[in-house]
Amino acid sequence: MASAKIVIDGKTYEVPIIEGTEGERAIDISKLRAESKVITYDNGFGNTGSCQSAVTFLNGEKGILHYRGYPIEQLAEKSTFVECSYLLNYGELPKKSELRKFDKAIRSSGKIPKGIKDIIDSFPKKAHPMAVCSSSMVALSGFYPELNDVLELDDKKKMSIITQLMGQILTMSTRFYRNSQGKAPRNPKEDLDYCSNFLYMMGMKPDPELAKALDTLLILHADHEQNCSASTARVIGSAHANVFASISGGIDALWGPLHGGANQAVLEMLEQIQKDGGDSKKALQRAKNKEDSFRLMGFGHRVYKNFDPRAKIIKKACDTVLSKLGVKDPLLDIARALEEEALKDPYFVERKLYPNVDFYSGIIYRALGIPTNMFTVMFAIGRLPGWLSQWKEMLEFKGTKIVRPRQIYVGENHRDYLDIKKR
Ligand code: SDX
Repeated sequence: MASAKIVIDGKTYEVPIIEGTEGERAIDISKLRAESKVITYDNGFGNTGSCQSAVTFLNGEKGILHYRGYPIEQLAEKSTFVECSYLLNYGELPKKSELRKFDKAIRSSGKIPKGIKDIIDSFPKKAHPMAVCSSSMVALSGFYPELNDVLELDDKKKMSIITQLMGQILTMSTRFYRNSQGKAPRNPKEDLDYCSNFLYMMGMKPDPELAKALDTLLILHADHEQNCSASTARVIGSAHANVFASISGGIDALWGPLHGGANQAVLEMLEQIQKDGGDSKKALQRAKNKEDSFRLMGFGHRVYKNFDPRAKIIKKACDTVLSKLGVKDPLLDIARALEEEALKDPYFVERKLYPNVDFYSGIIYRALGIPTNMFTVMFAIGRLPGWLSQWKEMLEFKGTKIVRPRQIYVGENHRDYLDIKKR
């Protein structure tokens, strides 16, 4: 086993180097603190592996993304979201009979308890759909107590949780959307495929071509290794909290505009540029100004320092979907101009800032008639099988421990309590 030597205060500590199947290497410091009393420090964990995982591989420098070894480009072209969800959770592409059983289980799992309907209906119409998505997800734990003890979940129960939540998230999110439009909710139809059912329950025509475009988007969003929301789901799950709490936590993390909330923020940014007369230069200036908190939303990434492969596929899909719909969206032209400007601008080039998955996805959602504040819910629907696969892997991994990072304390040293009369 390869190793590294770390010298601290003149003393040498030998630590093992572990290597992954794609050649990635890590210094395993699990024993370093016990031997040296020294911890490592990595703000935001951008250089720290939190786990070993076989679900998704990405190479940020080369812009590579694989689900269980299969390139995202091939899956986006040849697979379906339900098939990818099976692949992520079970590690292999399903046989016909396995896929049929998995798909059927999802289609028959769309019903939600009356109590959940009441919770969703109790939200004000103006509530953000992500608040409803997260609340209704964790509320499910109250209606399925038999699924709360993670140590009691056998493979059959885990499979049923995956198909149940994939079915129910559609019904819960579309129910709130219909409420917010003052329209009656629509119950799921078992004769419709996953995305056609979503479109139907949103009150749209379940056009097969639109459903296919949506299916591709969901494939692209399905997993992304240890991103903020997947890590959150793992952290909550590591405490043996129930799966509903883990997924609800993932939804909450995804909501952030620096993460999945960026797809909504991109549209709002493009609309602002349009209001400002379509001049993208002003947005670029603001994004480069350190005094300004404005960021070029949909650009940059913690890991990709090259084109996000998903952004490339979505950008291409924009043309096909918009022309199929006969939609001419000026925001697409603004997005393209912004990308062109940024990719020529030294600020972005030097920092290796490229369009990420969120830059173009909103253009397609908008063309499909999905409202901006539902964009991040679309991301959550896509990411659900990924969160579940990461949660399941964490639970089944023999070495999993409760997540509890250390810190470097920079506060006051010891001092005695001062009576209020003396302060
Ligand atoms: C997702 O992690 C995942 O895998 C996430 C995701 C997934 O599938 O789960 O891919 C989904 O969340 C995609 C990212 C969506 N977020 C956005 O589009 C928001 C805009 N992007 C930025 O906020 C930013 O790029 C982050 C949050 C994504 C990454 O932030 P980092 O890690 O701080 O970026 P960095 O270290 O690479 O920044 C390097 C420099 C810094 O400037 P300097 O201090 O070197 O001068 O680039 C600057 C940053 O300030 N920078 C930007 C910028 N992104 C980084 N400047 C302007 N606009 C931006 N978008």
